[in-house]
Amino acid sequence: MSDTAGATVLDILEDTDVCICAGSGGVGKTTTSAAIAAGMAARGHKVAVLTIDPAKRLADSLGLSELGNERARVDPKLFERAGIDPGDGELWATMLDAKATFDEVVIRYSEDRESSEQILDNRIYKQISGALAGSQEYMAMEKLYEIHESGEFDLLVLDTPPSRNALDFLDAPQRLVQFVDGRALKMFLRPTGFGAKIAGRGAATILAVLRRLTGVDLIDDLSEFFNAMSGLVGGFKERATKVEALLGAEGTKFLIVTGPASEPISEAVYLHRKLVESELPFGGLVVNRLHVAADGAADDEEIATELAVALGEDLAERVMDSYRDRRGLVERDAANVEDLRDRIGAVPLLTIPEMADEIHDLVGLLSLQPHLFGAAAAAAPSQ
Ligand SMILES: Nc1ncnc2c1ncn2[C@@H]1O[C@H](COP(=O)(O)OP(=O)(O)OP(=O)(O)O)[C@@H](O)[C@H]1O
Ligand SMILES: [Mg+2]
Repeated sequence: MSDTAGATVLDILEDTDVCICAGSGGVGKTTTSAAIAAGMAARGHKVAVLTIDPAKRLADSLGLSELGNERARVDPKLFERAGIDPGDGELWATMLDAKATFDEVVIRYSEDRESSEQILDNRIYKQISGALAGSQEYMAMEKLYEIHESGEFDLLVLDTPPSRNALDFLDAPQRLVQFVDGRALKMFLRPTGFGAKIAGRGAATILAVLRRLTGVDLIDDLSEFFNAMSGLVGGFKERATKVEALLGAEGTKFLIVTGPASEPISEAVYLHRKLVESELPFGGLVVNRLHVAADGAADDEEIATELAVALGEDLAERVMDSYRDRRGLVERDAANVEDLRDRIGAVPLLTIPEMADEIHDLVGLLSLQPHLFGAAAAAAPSQ
């Protein structure tokens, strides 16, 4: 696929059953993944989008508001109202909830109900299961794997969390295993163990002081937590290997979503390099919120004259200033996209313009179709 000019999502996702939208914070990963899923459903496919923290209005309009980790079918009437007949197509959406998925994983890998409850009730577990570094990323992968295994969908589109580092999710499974399996940490915490006598005196003393001051026995909680969790390490490891295999599978494609400013562009270049180094299947780039020139704009002098007549000199001058600022952005974005092409080479690259309206429902998502699926495919969805 060396012809990058006319690439569409359909080309990129041919023979693909998992599409992962990665990128830095706030660039439009959630919007793009939902729009791709909606567009593919409109073309007759059974699609699930796994979203993370969608804006409340978008979640509400897709019927996701109270469902937590459960997947829900987006009401087919919403397609009808948007003037689209998806045929056999179905759009399902899940809002990923790291804590709920973590609980499910604990239950799955615990030997029996008693040991899973012991973990789920543990004070430390309750505190960290949602907040643990990488847990959101790991759980996104976990859920992806689980739904993929069910074989219910033609395509899964995974949104990724707003990580500080867009690559966090790649090694999240390994990091989680390392944390739970952290021998040094366990030695520190086991109050009666040999480790505690040697290395752990400092930590144990601090915890003992805390216990005196707060009445909360963190030592017991912590050692119970690590002892119980260590029983799960085998399951976690096995699963992490399978999740990794899915990420690198032939039917998986990563899309890198970026904004048109220099900083996200540089991050996209870095992320692309990392994906290639990790031998993960890269599908293409999506440059979102591109400032584009209005069609058939007249030259500056003509615009200034007409504005002055319509608005008076002062206001016209201010409007002209903001017009020039915007044009500056259009030029900057075009240069940045060129730069991106130069740095990454011939890969499929899609652009989505900055839309005038907020994208908060299915109609908004479907309005991005011409940019993602090509102008020809936009008017009448093909089956
Ligand atoms: N092309 C666009 N035109 C106008 N607004 C857009 C466009 N794309 C996204 N937005 C808006 O930008 C905001 C951020 O988008 P989105 O939530 O998809 O980003 P994100 O990458 O998922 O963010 P985070 O990293 O925080 O998860 C949303 O309010 C969305 O409606
Ligand atoms: Mg998001």
